[in-house]
Amino acid sequence: MTKKMWGGRFAEAAAATVEQYTQSESFDRALYREDIKGSKAHAAMLGQCGVISQEEAGELVRGLDQVLSEIEAGSFVWRRELEDVHMNIERRLTEIVGPVGGKLHTARSRNDQVALDLRLHVSARLEAWSGELARLAGVLCDRAAEHANTLLPGCTHLQPAQPVSLAQHLLAYAQMFRRDHARVADCLTRVRVSPLGAAALAGTTHAISPAQVAGFVGFPSTFANSMDAVSDRDFVLEALFCGSLVMMHLSRFCEELILWANPNFGYVKLPDAYSTGSSIMPQKKNPDVCELMRGKTGRGYGALMSLLTLMKGLPLTYNRDMQEDKEPFFDADRTVSASVSIMADMLGVLQFVPAAMRRALARGFLNATELADYLAARGLPFREAHHATGAAVALAERKGVALEELSLEELRSFSPLVEQDVYAVLEFESAVRRRNLPGGTGPEPVADQLAVLRTWLAGLR
Ligand code: ARG
Repeated sequence: MTKKMWGGRFAEAAAATVEQYTQSESFDRALYREDIKGSKAHAAMLGQCGVISQEEAGELVRGLDQVLSEIEAGSFVWRRELEDVHMNIERRLTEIVGPVGGKLHTARSRNDQVALDLRLHVSARLEAWSGELARLAGVLCDRAAEHANTLLPGCTHLQPAQPVSLAQHLLAYAQMFRRDHARVADCLTRVRVSPLGAAALAGTTHAISPAQVAGFVGFPSTFANSMDAVSDRDFVLEALFCGSLVMMHLSRFCEELILWANPNFGYVKLPDAYSTGSSIMPQKKNPDVCELMRGKTGRGYGALMSLLTLMKGLPLTYNRDMQEDKEPFFDADRTVSASVSIMADMLGVLQFVPAAMRRALARGFLNATELADYLAARGLPFREAHHATGAAVALAERKGVALEELSLEELRSFSPLVEQDVYAVLEFESAVRRRNLPGGTGPEPVADQLAVLRTWLAGLR
């Protein structure tokens, strides 16, 4: 009988549309390296455990190496009707080594096989993300070191609030990317668990060693429960969440760079290589890279939502729905990798304009808190100090001058506690310099912060 195993009640082969609809070869062929790595590990383990002979294991490994070189040389013929990467590779292996190729799938199912492939892939990609996140944090450290003495208006509600150093502002992002890096490292501990040996769902009757396979592929541990091993995709979800946070952080930074590049701010000059012109308005230089990165953040979130939704209704264990886990990850990975790397490159050559930041400081009474703190330090309850300062600001605003341009007499009209030394306190440099507690924007805590970040980065190498 040439019919398929389940052919008893089926009169026809799958419709061409169904074959196209159900295949994953068009996208999961991207997993060929991981699939071959996992299969070589499985074959070697089967040989060592005596499930197949050592010679047979050797044949399988040799054949798999040949398949790998054919794929890399571009001579491998991918066949869509073989459904997926696993079947394509196994079919070619059997052509190369003969019937012994059929032994590779002993004690294994595509369910634990695909889970291993995806874990290997996500693991490699997360390691790449880590490297790029560290590079980005390093560029932020370098630019911060250049601008330890550059001051700009720090904002809340996007309104000028208090002066800060540009170094402190840039290092705020370095801290975010450092946390992203730590999140990825933590996620990796759960990704790097080998599911091989779970077989279809219940484990296997063959005397195999899952730990040996894990060792061969470089994973430190193996599954604790065979059913969980083949149905768990939370490791991909965690990776997508890590990627979503990276994109969210990048997107906020892009938003700031877009504002800073606007001539009304003028804090940065976008390098020509990272901006584009307008087809109609000759004067324009648009921050398209930042805008696209902000926009692509939505793709990353979309991938996370798509996989969360995919998984929420699935009974144990493997369901074919799970084939849909790959494309969202591939897409999110392309987005995250390219975005982090382009941001690091762009930041390296971005031109900051300290003079424009300085001009902005002079508008908006950014030293008002200094006056209120000055009065409070002289014993006035802070609420009253706040009130008196508010009145001083109102007067300065009416006169169209800065707070430090009011005369001593004018300032004393709001509180007799004001003396000549107030003018030194009102200087922006002094406002920043005196914020010297750990984590503050003062030069010492910023230098300490930079040192800690650099020690961390050096430890990664
Ligand atoms: N292409 C499938 C996937 O990506 C491989 C696993 C198929 N397993 C199965 N029992 N049909 O999930």
